[in-house]
Amino acid sequence: MIHLTIQGIEVEVAEGTTVLEAARKAGIRIPTLCYHPDLKPFGSCGLCVCKQEGSSKIIRACSTPAAEGMRIITHDQDLYEVRRTILELTMSTHPSSCLMCTKNNQCELQKLAIEYGVREQPFEVRLAEDKKDRSTGAVVLDPEKCIKCGRCVQVCQGLQGVYALEFIGRGDKTTMSPAASLPLGSSPCIKCGQCITHCPVGAIYEQDQTNDLMKAIADPDKVVAVQIAPAVRVAIGEEFGMKPGEISTGKLYTALRRLGIDYVFDTNFGADLTIMEEGYELLARIKNGGVMPQITSCCPGWVDYVEEYYPELLDNLSSAKSPMMMQGDITKT
Ligand code: SF4
Ligand code: SF4
Ligand code: FES
Repeated sequence: MIHLTIQGIEVEVAEGTTVLEAARKAGIRIPTLCYHPDLKPFGSCGLCVCKQEGSSKIIRACSTPAAEGMRIITHDQDLYEVRRTILELTMSTHPSSCLMCTKNNQCELQKLAIEYGVREQPFEVRLAEDKKDRSTGAVVLDPEKCIKCGRCVQVCQGLQGVYALEFIGRGDKTTMSPAASLPLGSSPCIKCGQCITHCPVGAIYEQDQTNDLMKAIADPDKVVAVQIAPAVRVAIGEEFGMKPGEISTGKLYTALRRLGIDYVFDTNFGADLTIMEEGYELLARIKNGGVMPQITSCCPGWVDYVEEYYPELLDNLSSAKSPMMMQGDITKT
Protein backbone atom coordinates (compact mmCIF):
# COMPACT_ATOMS: atom_id res chain seq x y z
CA MET A 1 0.00 0.00 0.00
CA ILE A 2 1.04 3.63 -0.61
CA HIS A 3 0.42 6.60 1.66
CA LEU A 4 0.04 10.12 0.32
CA THR A 5 -1.63 13.38 1.21
CA ILE A 6 -4.16 14.96 -1.11
CA GLN A 7 -5.20 18.53 -0.39
CA GLY A 8 -4.26 17.93 3.25
CA ILE A 9 -6.14 14.62 3.56
CA GLU A 10 -4.12 11.47 4.20
CA VAL A 11 -5.07 8.53 2.06
CA GLU A 12 -3.87 4.94 1.66
CA VAL A 13 -4.15 3.31 -1.76
CA ALA A 14 -2.87 0.21 -3.50
CA GLU A 15 0.24 0.47 -5.65
CA GLY A 16 -0.70 1.28 -9.26
CA THR A 17 -3.48 3.68 -8.23
CA THR A 18 -3.40 7.04 -10.01
CA VAL A 19 -3.44 10.39 -8.22
CA LEU A 20 -6.96 10.94 -9.61
CA GLU A 21 -8.24 7.66 -8.14
CA ALA A 22 -6.51 8.40 -4.83
CA ALA A 23 -8.18 11.82 -4.73
CA ARG A 24 -11.57 10.25 -5.36
CA LYS A 25 -10.91 7.84 -2.50
CA ALA A 26 -10.20 10.85 -0.28
CA GLY A 27 -13.52 12.39 -1.38
CA ILE A 28 -11.88 15.10 -3.49
CA ARG A 29 -13.23 15.76 -6.96
CA ILE A 30 -10.69 16.74 -9.61
CA PRO A 31 -12.39 17.88 -12.85
CA THR A 32 -11.81 15.65 -15.90
CA LEU A 33 -12.92 15.53 -19.52
CA CYS A 34 -10.86 12.91 -21.36
CA TYR A 35 -10.75 10.48 -18.42
CA HIS A 36 -13.32 7.67 -18.28
CA PRO A 37 -13.15 4.81 -15.78
CA ASP A 38 -13.68 2.22 -18.57
CA LEU A 39 -10.64 3.41 -20.49
CA LYS A 40 -6.88 3.73 -20.11
CA PRO A 41 -5.82 7.32 -19.23
CA PHE A 42 -5.28 9.33 -22.39
CA GLY A 43 -4.11 12.60 -20.80
CA SER A 44 -5.35 14.82 -23.62
CA CYS A 45 -7.60 17.46 -22.02
CA GLY A 46 -5.31 18.75 -19.26
CA LEU A 47 -8.19 19.57 -16.91
CA CYS A 48 -7.01 17.28 -14.13
CA VAL A 49 -3.82 19.32 -13.56
CA CYS A 50 -2.49 19.26 -9.99
CA LYS A 51 0.69 20.31 -8.18
CA GLN A 52 3.04 18.65 -5.74
CA GLU A 53 3.95 20.65 -2.65
CA GLY A 54 7.43 22.17 -3.03
CA SER A 55 7.52 21.65 -6.81
CA SER A 56 6.51 23.99 -9.59
CA LYS A 57 5.88 21.03 -11.88
CA ILE A 58 2.29 20.51 -12.99
CA ILE A 59 1.11 16.90 -13.18
CA ARG A 60 -1.93 15.30 -14.79
CA ALA A 61 -3.75 13.42 -12.05
CA CYS A 62 -5.42 10.92 -14.40
CA SER A 63 -2.13 9.54 -15.71
CA THR A 64 0.27 10.05 -12.76
CA PRO A 65 0.74 7.04 -10.49
CA ALA A 66 0.40 7.76 -6.78
CA ALA A 67 3.74 7.44 -4.95
CA GLU A 68 4.68 7.06 -1.28
CA GLY A 69 4.86 10.38 0.53
CA MET A 70 3.40 12.54 -2.26
CA ARG A 71 1.76 15.75 -1.09
CA ILE A 72 -0.67 16.77 -3.83
CA ILE A 73 -2.46 20.08 -4.23
CA THR A 74 -5.63 19.63 -6.25
CA HIS A 75 -7.25 23.04 -5.76
CA ASP A 76 -5.82 26.55 -5.49
CA GLN A 77 -6.27 29.81 -7.39
CA ASP A 78 -3.52 28.99 -9.96
CA LEU A 79 -5.06 25.62 -10.78
CA TYR A 80 -8.50 27.21 -10.98
CA GLU A 81 -7.21 29.75 -13.54
CA VAL A 82 -5.38 27.07 -15.56
CA ARG A 83 -8.52 24.92 -15.70
CA ARG A 84 -10.70 27.86 -16.69
CA THR A 85 -8.29 28.82 -19.49
CA ILE A 86 -8.29 25.21 -20.74
CA LEU A 87 -12.09 25.30 -20.80
CA GLU A 88 -12.10 28.63 -22.67
CA LEU A 89 -9.64 27.25 -25.22
CA THR A 90 -11.69 24.06 -25.61
CA MET A 91 -14.82 26.13 -26.13
CA SER A 92 -13.10 28.21 -28.79
CA THR A 93 -13.24 25.11 -31.02
CA HIS A 94 -16.71 24.03 -29.95
CA PRO A 95 -20.03 25.58 -31.06
CA SER A 96 -22.14 27.34 -28.43
CA SER A 97 -25.49 26.25 -29.86
CA CYS A 98 -26.21 24.16 -26.77
CA LEU A 99 -30.01 24.53 -27.02
CA MET A 100 -30.04 22.51 -30.24
CA CYS A 101 -27.61 19.84 -29.06
CA THR A 102 -28.73 16.31 -28.13
CA LYS A 103 -26.42 16.51 -25.10
CA ASN A 104 -27.88 19.78 -23.74
CA ASN A 105 -28.03 19.49 -19.93
CA GLN A 106 -26.06 16.22 -20.02
CA CYS A 107 -22.88 17.59 -21.60
CA GLU A 108 -19.75 17.30 -19.46
CA LEU A 109 -18.16 20.37 -21.10
CA GLN A 110 -21.29 22.46 -20.49
CA LYS A 111 -21.38 21.44 -16.81
CA LEU A 112 -17.70 22.33 -16.34
CA ALA A 113 -18.10 25.66 -18.15
CA ILE A 114 -20.90 26.55 -15.74
CA GLU A 115 -18.87 25.38 -12.75
CA TYR A 116 -15.85 27.48 -13.80
CA GLY A 117 -17.87 30.57 -14.64
CA VAL A 118 -17.00 30.62 -18.34
CA ARG A 119 -19.33 33.35 -19.57
CA GLU A 120 -17.26 34.98 -22.32
CA GLN A 121 -15.07 33.79 -25.16
CA PRO A 122 -11.66 35.50 -24.99
CA PHE A 123 -10.15 33.39 -27.79
CA GLU A 124 -10.83 33.47 -31.51
CA VAL A 125 -13.49 30.86 -32.33
CA ARG A 126 -12.31 28.30 -34.91
CA LEU A 127 -14.78 25.52 -35.68
CA ALA A 128 -14.06 22.44 -37.79
CA GLU A 129 -15.74 22.64 -41.16
CA ASP A 130 -16.30 18.93 -41.74
CA LYS A 131 -19.89 17.96 -42.39
CA LYS A 132 -21.95 15.64 -40.20
CA ASP A 133 -21.59 11.98 -41.15
CA ARG A 134 -24.99 10.22 -41.16
CA SER A 135 -23.86 7.37 -43.44
CA THR A 136 -24.62 4.52 -41.00
CA GLY A 137 -28.24 5.59 -40.47
CA ALA A 138 -27.72 4.97 -36.76
CA VAL A 139 -24.57 6.69 -35.43
CA VAL A 140 -24.14 10.37 -36.35
CA LEU A 141 -20.67 12.00 -36.20
CA ASP A 142 -20.55 15.78 -35.84
CA PRO A 143 -16.84 16.75 -36.09
CA GLU A 144 -17.69 20.41 -35.41
CA LYS A 145 -18.46 19.52 -31.78
CA CYS A 146 -15.51 17.17 -31.22
CA ILE A 147 -13.16 18.31 -28.44
CA LYS A 148 -10.60 15.61 -29.33
CA CYS A 149 -10.67 13.94 -25.94
CA GLY A 150 -10.01 10.55 -27.55
CA ARG A 151 -12.61 8.55 -25.63
CA CYS A 152 -14.45 7.34 -28.74
CA VAL A 153 -11.23 6.20 -30.44
CA GLN A 154 -10.14 4.39 -27.29
CA VAL A 155 -13.48 2.66 -26.73
CA CYS A 156 -13.82 1.67 -30.39
CA GLN A 157 -10.27 0.34 -30.68
CA GLY A 158 -9.40 -0.73 -27.13
CA LEU A 159 -12.69 -2.03 -25.73
CA GLN A 160 -14.62 -3.08 -28.83
CA GLY A 161 -11.60 -4.10 -30.91
CA VAL A 162 -13.19 -2.58 -34.01
CA TYR A 163 -10.84 0.22 -35.18
CA ALA A 164 -13.59 2.13 -37.01
CA LEU A 165 -12.49 5.49 -35.54
CA GLU A 166 -9.08 7.11 -35.37
CA PHE A 167 -7.36 10.47 -35.09
CA ILE A 168 -6.17 11.90 -38.38
CA GLY A 169 -3.73 14.82 -38.81
CA ARG A 170 -1.40 16.49 -36.33
CA GLY A 171 -1.47 19.42 -33.92
CA ASP A 172 -4.50 21.69 -34.23
CA LYS A 173 -5.36 19.98 -37.55
CA THR A 174 -6.09 16.72 -35.70
CA THR A 175 -9.59 15.40 -36.29
CA MET A 176 -11.50 12.40 -35.03
CA SER A 177 -12.52 10.50 -38.15
CA PRO A 178 -13.66 7.12 -39.40
CA ALA A 179 -10.67 4.98 -40.37
CA ALA A 180 -8.98 6.12 -43.62
CA SER A 181 -11.38 9.12 -43.75
CA LEU A 182 -14.11 6.89 -45.21
CA PRO A 183 -17.75 7.61 -44.38
CA LEU A 184 -18.51 5.73 -41.14
CA GLY A 185 -21.02 3.59 -43.07
CA SER A 186 -18.18 2.27 -45.27
CA SER A 187 -15.87 1.62 -42.31
CA PRO A 188 -15.89 -1.56 -40.19
CA CYS A 189 -18.21 0.18 -37.65
CA ILE A 190 -20.65 -2.34 -36.14
CA LYS A 191 -23.03 0.33 -34.81
CA CYS A 192 -22.53 -0.82 -31.21
CA GLY A 193 -23.04 2.74 -29.90
CA GLN A 194 -20.19 2.63 -27.36
CA CYS A 195 -18.64 5.79 -28.83
CA ILE A 196 -21.97 7.57 -28.26
CA THR A 197 -22.10 6.42 -24.65
CA HIS A 198 -18.53 7.54 -23.96
CA CYS A 199 -18.47 10.91 -25.79
CA PRO A 200 -18.56 13.68 -23.15
CA VAL A 201 -20.18 16.16 -25.57
CA GLY A 202 -22.68 15.86 -28.42
CA ALA A 203 -20.13 15.03 -31.14
CA ILE A 204 -21.44 11.48 -31.60
CA TYR A 205 -25.09 10.70 -31.14
CA GLU A 206 -27.91 8.42 -32.18
CA GLN A 207 -29.92 9.23 -35.27
CA ASP A 208 -33.03 10.93 -33.89
CA GLN A 209 -36.31 9.78 -35.47
CA THR A 210 -38.72 11.69 -33.23
CA ASN A 211 -40.02 13.82 -36.10
CA ASP A 212 -40.52 10.80 -38.38
CA LEU A 213 -42.60 9.21 -35.63
CA MET A 214 -44.70 12.33 -35.07
CA LYS A 215 -45.40 12.56 -38.84
CA ALA A 216 -46.41 8.89 -38.96
CA ILE A 217 -48.79 9.31 -36.01
CA ALA A 218 -50.39 12.36 -37.67
CA ASP A 219 -50.90 10.48 -40.97
CA PRO A 220 -54.53 9.19 -40.96
CA ASP A 221 -53.67 6.53 -43.58
CA LYS A 222 -50.90 5.00 -41.51
CA VAL A 223 -51.27 2.34 -38.82
CA VAL A 224 -48.49 2.90 -36.29
CA ALA A 225 -47.30 -0.05 -34.21
CA VAL A 226 -44.63 -0.01 -31.52
CA GLN A 227 -42.79 -2.87 -29.87
CA ILE A 228 -41.05 -2.58 -26.52
CA ALA A 229 -37.94 -4.59 -25.73
CA PRO A 230 -37.72 -5.90 -22.15
CA ALA A 231 -34.93 -3.58 -20.92
CA VAL A 232 -36.80 -0.42 -21.96
CA ARG A 233 -39.66 -0.89 -19.52
CA VAL A 234 -37.16 -0.42 -16.68
CA ALA A 235 -34.58 1.89 -18.31
CA ILE A 236 -37.07 4.55 -19.42
CA GLY A 237 -38.31 5.19 -15.89
CA GLU A 238 -35.05 6.89 -14.93
CA GLU A 239 -35.57 9.49 -17.67
CA PHE A 240 -38.78 10.46 -15.89
CA GLY A 241 -37.26 10.63 -12.43
CA MET A 242 -38.22 7.13 -11.23
CA LYS A 243 -35.78 5.11 -9.14
CA PRO A 244 -33.28 2.97 -11.10
CA GLY A 245 -34.84 -0.46 -11.58
CA GLU A 246 -38.46 0.67 -11.16
CA ILE A 247 -40.69 -1.16 -13.62
CA SER A 248 -42.86 1.16 -15.72
CA THR A 249 -44.49 -1.23 -18.22
CA GLY A 250 -48.07 -0.03 -17.60
CA LYS A 251 -47.10 3.65 -17.72
CA LEU A 252 -45.12 3.06 -20.91
CA TYR A 253 -48.01 1.32 -22.69
CA THR A 254 -50.46 4.01 -21.58
CA ALA A 255 -48.15 6.86 -22.64
CA LEU A 256 -47.65 5.33 -26.09
CA ARG A 257 -51.40 4.85 -26.59
CA ARG A 258 -52.04 8.44 -25.47
CA LEU A 259 -49.39 9.64 -27.93
CA GLY A 260 -51.54 8.14 -30.68
CA ILE A 261 -49.79 4.80 -31.34
CA ASP A 262 -52.37 2.35 -32.71
CA TYR A 263 -50.86 -0.89 -31.41
CA VAL A 264 -48.31 -1.62 -28.71
CA PHE A 265 -46.59 -5.01 -28.78
CA ASP A 266 -44.05 -6.64 -26.52
CA THR A 267 -40.79 -8.02 -27.91
CA ASN A 268 -41.12 -10.83 -25.34
CA PHE A 269 -43.46 -12.54 -27.79
CA GLY A 270 -40.82 -12.22 -30.53
CA ALA A 271 -38.28 -13.67 -28.09
CA ASP A 272 -40.49 -16.74 -27.58
CA LEU A 273 -40.63 -17.21 -31.36
CA THR A 274 -36.85 -16.86 -31.62
CA ILE A 275 -36.32 -19.47 -28.93
CA MET A 276 -38.66 -21.91 -30.70
CA GLU A 277 -36.94 -21.36 -34.07
CA GLU A 278 -33.49 -21.69 -32.54
CA GLY A 279 -34.60 -24.83 -30.71
CA TYR A 280 -35.77 -26.44 -33.98
CA GLU A 281 -32.53 -25.39 -35.66
CA LEU A 282 -30.44 -26.87 -32.85
CA LEU A 283 -32.36 -30.18 -32.98
CA ALA A 284 -31.83 -30.31 -36.76
CA ARG A 285 -28.09 -29.65 -36.34
CA ILE A 286 -27.80 -32.39 -33.69
CA LYS A 287 -29.77 -34.92 -35.78
CA ASN A 288 -28.05 -34.14 -39.08
CA GLY A 289 -24.49 -33.55 -37.81
CA GLY A 290 -24.59 -29.80 -38.53
CA VAL A 291 -21.96 -27.25 -37.48
CA MET A 292 -21.70 -26.97 -33.70
CA PRO A 293 -21.80 -25.15 -31.37
CA GLN A 294 -24.77 -23.10 -32.53
CA ILE A 295 -24.20 -19.47 -31.49
CA THR A 296 -26.80 -16.75 -31.25
CA SER A 297 -27.28 -13.17 -30.11
CA CYS A 298 -30.21 -10.80 -30.60
CA CYS A 299 -27.76 -7.87 -30.86
CA PRO A 300 -27.24 -6.84 -34.51
CA GLY A 301 -23.94 -5.17 -33.55
CA TRP A 302 -22.68 -8.50 -32.22
CA VAL A 303 -23.68 -10.32 -35.43
CA ASP A 304 -22.02 -7.54 -37.47
CA TYR A 305 -18.85 -8.01 -35.40
CA VAL A 306 -18.72 -11.74 -36.13
CA GLU A 307 -19.37 -11.11 -39.83
CA GLU A 308 -16.55 -8.52 -40.01
CA TYR A 309 -13.94 -10.02 -37.70
CA TYR A 310 -14.65 -13.77 -37.32
CA PRO A 311 -16.06 -14.86 -40.70
CA GLU A 312 -14.80 -18.39 -40.00
CA LEU A 313 -17.58 -18.64 -37.37
CA LEU A 314 -20.42 -17.66 -39.72
CA ASP A 315 -21.66 -21.26 -40.05
CA ASN A 316 -21.96 -21.44 -36.26
CA LEU A 317 -24.42 -18.52 -36.20
CA SER A 318 -28.07 -19.40 -35.89
CA SER A 319 -30.06 -18.38 -38.97
CA ALA A 320 -33.00 -17.27 -36.77
CA LYS A 321 -33.80 -13.56 -36.82
CA SER A 322 -33.62 -11.49 -33.64
CA PRO A 323 -36.74 -11.14 -31.45
CA MET A 324 -37.15 -7.52 -32.66
CA MET A 325 -37.10 -8.59 -36.30
CA MET A 326 -39.46 -11.53 -35.72
CA GLN A 327 -41.90 -9.32 -33.82
CA GLY A 328 -41.65 -6.73 -36.60
CA ASP A 329 -42.44 -9.29 -39.30
CA ILE A 330 -45.34 -10.76 -37.31
CA THR A 331 -46.77 -7.29 -36.69
CA LYS A 332 -46.57 -6.35 -40.38
CA THR A 333 -48.09 -9.62 -41.51
S1 SF4 B 1 -20.57 2.50 -33.04
FE1 SF4 B 1 -19.09 1.07 -32.06
S2 SF4 B 1 -17.94 0.26 -33.82
FE2 SF4 B 1 -18.99 2.10 -34.58
S3 SF4 B 1 -17.53 3.75 -34.33
FE3 SF4 B 1 -18.77 3.70 -32.45
S4 SF4 B 1 -17.63 2.37 -31.02
FE4 SF4 B 1 -16.78 2.03 -33.07
S1 SF4 C 1 -16.16 12.55 -30.78
FE1 SF4 C 1 -16.56 12.85 -28.58
S2 SF4 C 1 -15.47 11.13 -27.60
FE2 SF4 C 1 -14.63 11.32 -29.68
S3 SF4 C 1 -12.83 12.59 -29.47
FE3 SF4 C 1 -14.54 13.94 -30.05
S4 SF4 C 1 -15.37 14.67 -28.12
FE4 SF4 C 1 -14.08 12.91 -27.61
S1 FES D 1 -8.66 14.02 -17.40
FE1 FES D 1 -6.51 14.05 -17.14
S2 FES D 1 -5.78 14.98 -18.93
FE2 FES D 1 -7.93 14.79 -19.28
